[in-house]
Amino acid sequence: MNSTLVICKPDAVERGHVGEIISRLERKGLKISRLELRRIDEETAKMHYAEHASRTFFNELVEFITRSPSVIMEVSGPEETWAIVRVMMGATDPAIAAPGTIRGDLGYSVAENLVHGSDSAEAASRELGIFFR
Ligand code: RTP
Ligand code: MG
Repeated sequence: MNSTLVICKPDAVERGHVGEIISRLERKGLKISRLELRRIDEETAKMHYAEHASRTFFNELVEFITRSPSVIMEVSGPEETWAIVRVMMGATDPAIAAPGTIRGDLGYSVAENLVHGSDSAEAASRELGIFFR
């Protein structure tokens, strides 16, 4: 089994899309190994998104992800589970994400795009360490 970090971001919890997102992952055959409803604190948000620290949208990103509780999950499946989840999420900008993907079906805003998924095996291991120490 291989694991990745998935976050249903504050907008997904606020809009009541957590069940839909989990259902899609389960229908695909993936397992929810760990799950926690938690408001992400500022320090954790900055560590998690450290690669974007110099971007113009960094402060907005940290403010958004810490705004209200997220559902933080370890999702497990076959090799390269992270890649399966990324395909299911769709493009970063929901306005151009393909229909059939989570962002393509449920979202419209690049700043509030419903889900996070680790973007490599290395990122999955680093991020699971941050959120499930
Ligand atoms: P995530 O890390 O949240 O799973 O999203 P991602 O890999 O698809 O996108 P990434 O490049 O890692 O960007 C992280 C988050 O920053 C926000 N963003 N805003 N205003 C913009 O142009 C812009 N670009 C990125 C998005 O909310 C994205 O999820
Ligand atoms: Mg990313």
